[in-house]
Amino acid sequence: MPPMKRFVTIVGVVAIVLAVTWFWLGHSKAPTTQQTATTTSPSSQQTSTKTTATFNKTRYSLTQPTSIWVIVNKQHPLQPKTYVPSDLVLPDVTQRVPGTTEMKLRKAAAVALEKMFAAAAKQNINLLVSTAYRGYSYQATLYNGYVARQGKAVADTQSARPGYSEHQTGWAVDIRAQSGKCPVEQCFGNLPEGKWLAANAYKYGFLLRYPEGKQKITGYEYEPWHFRYIGTYLSKEMHRTGTETMEEFFDVSGGTSY
Ligand code: DAL
Ligand code: ZN
Repeated sequence: MPPMKRFVTIVGVVAIVLAVTWFWLGHSKAPTTQQTATTTSPSSQQTSTKTTATFNKTRYSLTQPTSIWVIVNKQHPLQPKTYVPSDLVLPDVTQRVPGTTEMKLRKAAAVALEKMFAAAAKQNINLLVSTAYRGYSYQATLYNGYVARQGKAVADTQSARPGYSEHQTGWAVDIRAQSGKCPVEQCFGNLPEGKWLAANAYKYGFLLRYPEGKQKITGYEYEPWHFRYIGTYLSKEMHRTGTETMEEFFDVSGGTSY
């Protein structure tokens, strides 16, 4: 074979071998890649599903007074007890004593309350703010009034001591019916307004904080008018899991004694 022809033949054979090898590697690799893809895909899907499904109980502090999740009860006073929130505003809703400090809430709670009252009004549920923010000294006056009228033991089932009230966080609000029926009374829970709130508050980030039958946990009698802003991330999860109190949800101590 002439050297030129031999050279062309060798180059041709090498090219064919290379092409076949390249083709074979390509096709034998493909399933491996696909396999890898199918095995990693479900597990990565699982991981992402898990991430969205797992509720993060440490997302906010349970002890910082500024936190939307702060737990305030007889075992957990505000720290410090004289804490004053910084962003109190008047919600743009009907107020019992319009424009007063007592009608104020922290900004996020005020915005949520406005949304909730507007949604309620669309269903002919007309609400008003009875009391929202209460400072340490006002809570002291209020509590002392309860003690003077009913004695300490009864007072402690209905009113928090100063430094122990959710109202001092700026996240709590007592709500009444504009009709004036059952003001801050347990029969509020049987009114259309009380029922609407009990069923819908969670959609706006509020929690009926002192439910019926939970006095041993919350430390207070049933208060169908008292709503605590906790944000929708938590309120929807508590609703989904059927957990009524923050103490139970976070496994935090509470109870009737100081
Ligand atoms: N009535 C509620 C418990 C308070 O005084 O904060
Ligand atoms: Zn209250």
